[in-house]
Parts: sequence; structure tokens; C-alpha cells
Amino acid sequence: MCGIVGYLGSRQAYDILIQGLHRLEYRGYDSAGAALVNAEGSLNVYKAKGKVSNLEQSAAGKDTTGTLGIAHTRWATHGEPNDVNAHPQISQTHSIALVHNGTIENYNVLKKALIQHGYTFESETDTEVLVQLIEYIKLTGGCSLLDAIIEALHQVEGAYAIAVVEENDPDTMIVARKSSPLVIGVGDDETFIASDATPIVGFTDRVVYLRDNEIAVIKRNEPLRIISLENNKPSKIDIQTLKLSVAQLEKGGYDTFMLKEIFEQPATLRDCIRGRIVDDCNRIVLSGVEIHRDRFLNARRIVLVACGTSWHAALIGKRLIQEMCRIPVEVEYASEFRYGNPVLDKQDIVISISQSGETADTLAAIQLAREKGAFVYGICNVVGASIPRNTDSGTYIHVGPEIGVASTKAFTGQVTVLTLLALSIGQLRGTVVPETVHEIASALMEMPKTIEKVLKLDGEIQKLSRTFTYAHNFLYLGRGYNYPTALEGALKLKEISYIHAEGYPAAEMKHGPIALIDHEMPSVIIAPSDSLYDKIINNVQQVKSRGGSVIAIVSKGNRAMAEMADYTLEIPDVPECLTPIVASIPLQLLAYYIAINKGKNVDQPRNLAKSVTVE
Ligand code: M6R
Repeated sequence: MCGIVGYLGSRQAYDILIQGLHRLEYRGYDSAGAALVNAEGSLNVYKAKGKVSNLEQSAAGKDTTGTLGIAHTRWATHGEPNDVNAHPQISQTHSIALVHNGTIENYNVLKKALIQHGYTFESETDTEVLVQLIEYIKLTGGCSLLDAIIEALHQVEGAYAIAVVEENDPDTMIVARKSSPLVIGVGDDETFIASDATPIVGFTDRVVYLRDNEIAVIKRNEPLRIISLENNKPSKIDIQTLKLSVAQLEKGGYDTFMLKEIFEQPATLRDCIRGRIVDDCNRIVLSGVEIHRDRFLNARRIVLVACGTSWHAALIGKRLIQEMCRIPVEVEYASEFRYGNPVLDKQDIVISISQSGETADTLAAIQLAREKGAFVYGICNVVGASIPRNTDSGTYIHVGPEIGVASTKAFTGQVTVLTLLALSIGQLRGTVVPETVHEIASALMEMPKTIEKVLKLDGEIQKLSRTFTYAHNFLYLGRGYNYPTALEGALKLKEISYIHAEGYPAAEMKHGPIALIDHEMPSVIIAPSDSLYDKIINNVQQVKSRGGSVIAIVSKGNRAMAEMADYTLEIPDVPECLTPIVASIPLQLLAYYIAINKGKNVDQPRNLAKSVTVE
């Protein structure tokens, strides 16, 4: 949540900052702002409520010169979205500007103390407290900006990635992080900083991921310096090569990122399985498991932790792992797990699932799990993010940048990796028969083609969506492997169309939600021809007999359901455990077209952000 970007070099900073903010807008779009220090040392600050384009409009025609600048796109936590609460926040004498991603938890205590020292506050943000504190320390202690920031960071509790610039110093930018991400791009005589690598792509492929409790001093014509906030000693600078291209960050001819990402799934799943299915589909190789064979051989219990869509993938993972590995598996919301005093020991494996690798609750959950001695495995998309850097081992899903706030290709990538993981642990423990490995691995190899077939439903779903655009409520029902698919379908609809939708295990419907069903409440029922198909038929009849309309996702050639349901969408036959991958795609398209019919911004739905780096 919140994106920060900064530049120091020989080019004009403003355009670089604006382009960077556009790429980071998925992290929040409540307001945007930029601070520039020009060659004379003047500090110019521009802020606007709403999207980055509003900032561009409000700064048009004003002095945006300067080769040093910082900027911010906000997802509001403290204080409503408005110009005053927008970042950069400025110190009382208007000499220091700061952008911040995270939350300062003890801001109230610090604010009261600063008020006693004569400070006044304009905004309701926690961030203003930090910038005022830095100025107070600098002025009263007569110290450098760097020393004042270090001292202030020792006083604050919470999470932060910050970038700071100062009036009269067009040559220095200082950045620091604790629990919120920050990447430094090292160019030739220029330096970029950002919440993730997307604003840096196209300028340099040399990046440094700042670690927790590190502060970096970026000075014109001087090498980058990183200092540990724990011991004030220089930290090792580990330059890595970025493997992202500008093309991956663009819409590629689609109207929206979400549609592009839905249609990318044949390719992304090809990337996801590449090199992991070997020996003519008879063996799965996940290096993260191979290196730690003993941990998986001796595991007594697996706990999956995640949030949102990743939690839905975790529910599917539970079934997969239990079935193929015969290990007890629990699934926890990361936010509940971290405060639940979990009982864990060395024979437990905690698997975190996160697209961004920056979700605050998931990160805290795995840190707790490690403290308690569990072995932590991460399933992540964003390479080099905080979660993979805080795990003992793991697997990337490799589906490329997911920019649309609603997760689509990351979900299918997560389920694919969980399938590979279950098979690979099952092989190791001897709990899955070779025929099963071969059958599922072969179907996974075919999955890109299978999904291409499912995507041909696009036109049909677009047409169908018109019938349901003005429904106020939806029920999504599924059983077994597809109960989580129902949850995921409902979440997709809710988050982008703002229609209330509930996902439910189909058989549970009669224990309450059935009371809601009437002719105005459509039910989407995921009913492939699997081991529970005969059971779900009863649920379809229960909905129909109460006047509800049914959209059924069924296996190809299922004519019986066509007679019962109002609409059927046919998907190709795949092994039962892979049906969530295939069935989720029509649900993504249905949610997409309903939201588009309603004129909603599907890539940036209200109140949401792609990366939830606050509690
Ligand atoms: O990056 P993560 O996978 O950790 O994010 C978790 C959730 O915030 C995320 O899946 C969210 O629910 C999506 N907007 C769903 O589409």
C-alpha cells in the first residue's frame, strides 16, 4: 500500500517520478504528490487528491525542474484522502520533505511530545509526525539530516519505507526501510528508488533490495552507501540483476491489465511449470523441496498461511497436500495466525502464499513461524520481495507482473505450484503412486492449451454478463476442490463490480443461505464431472425449486445440467485436482464483464490496493 519513487541524477526528475507513480498506482490511488529540489536548492512540492493524473494537472505550468525528487501514491490509512494528507509531508519550516509507505504506530505519543515543543500539525497523517520529528532532532541537536533520520527512526515503532530530501541540498536523497519494501536502482551517475522495481525498469537493470533496518545515503557523484540501523556500521551492497522488461508492464493491446492478465494465463502457466516436470511427466522437480528433502520427509504437519485470493489457493493446497502426501494440513488467515499464539515446532512446515511477497500480515506470520522454530517455505510471484527473502526455501510462481488489483493469473499460478509441491512431496514420501504423478503432470503440461480452449468462452460470457449486470447479490457454490473456487469467484465479483457475492460450500447452503434465494439472486455453481458431481446436482435443484437462476460451470458435453440450469459454461475435462484452475477462468471473465458493463475501473477498484503492506 502506497508507492514511493525517487530519482537523483542528471535528468529532470519530474517525468521519471510521474512515470514511476503511474507504474506504482496499483499500490494505492487516493492521492499523489511529488517534491523536487532544483539546482538553486529550492524545494517545490505538489500534491493532489485522487489519481496521478490529477497531480499532473495540478502541477502543469508550475516549476517542476530539478534533478532530485521524491514522489508518492497513497492508499489512505491515517486521515481521509485529500490534498493535505497527501505525501510528501513537509516539516514545519518547510525544509524537509518525506514520503512514506507503512504505518508509524506510536505517532500519537510522538505527536503529543512535538506539540509540547511548539510544533503544529496540518495533516492527520502519521507521516507528518515523522518528518517533524526529524526536523526537531536536526534543529535541536545541530546534527546532519542523516543523523537526525537515524535518531528519529530509533524512536518510531511500526513499518516504513521512506525517502527524504532537504531544501538547499540538491545532491542528497536518504532512504530507509523496516517491514515495507524498497528497491534502489543503480544507473550510470544516477540512482532510482522505488517501492518495487517497476519504476526502475527501462532505466537500469542493476538493483539493490534494501534490507530491514537499513538506511541508504544517495549522494550525487558518490558511491551508494548503506548503513545498518542496528549497529551504525556499513552494510554489504548486494547488486542484483533485474529480469523485468517494459513490455511486461504494459497493456499489450488490451483495454485493461486485468483482461491482459486473464488472457496471458496459457503463457504464464507455461512459464510456471517450465523445467519442473521432467522424465516424460514422471517426475516433479522443485529445487526448494529437493534441497530440504529431510524437512519434507520428517514433516509432521503443514500450515498454510495467506490472505485474500492467496488464501483461497491455500485451501486448494490443503486438499492437494493431504491427498497426495498424507500429512495433516491446516490453513490460516495470516492475520489470525500471527495473533493466535500458534503451537509450532521443528517438524512443522509453514507455507506462505503471496503474489506480492509484501503482504504485511503474511510477512509477520512467517517471521513468527521462524521464531518458533518451524521451517518456512514461500510461494511467491514477485522475485526478490520481502517474503521470499524471509523464508528458508520456496518456489516462485513466475507468472510475471500482475498489475490489475484483482488477482487472476497469480491465483492459477499459485494453484499450479501447490499441485507441483504436493506431487513432489508425495513422491519423496512415497505417498503418491507414479500413475497419479504421470496423469496430473501430463495434464499440467497440456494446461496452456486447455486454458486457450476455456478462453474461447470469452464472447459467450460477455453476452451472459449483460443478463446479470444489475443483480444485487450473487451466490457462488462449489464442493471439494471447487469450494475455494467458489470463494474466489465471489471475491472477484465483489472487488471489481461492488456487487455483494458470497462463496459457499454447496452442501452448506441449505443450512442458512438458502433463505436468501429468490428470482433476483443468481447462483453460480461450479459442477465439473468430478467425484462430487452427483451431490452438487441436488444443490442445483434446491436453488431452482426456489426460483433462483443458475449459471453452471460444467465439464464439456454435460447435457444433463443444461436441462436444469439456466446457463451452462462448458470447460474441458481435467483431473479433479486441476478443475479449480480451469473453472476459475470463466469466473474471472464473468466478474470482469459485469464490472465493465457497470462502468467500473477494474484495474483500480475503489478502496483497494494491490499490495497490502499495512495491518
Ligand atoms: O500479494 P498477496 O497475494 O499476499 O495479496 C493477498 C491479497 O491482498 C490479495 O490476494 C487480494 O485479495 C486480491 N485483491 C484479490 O484479488
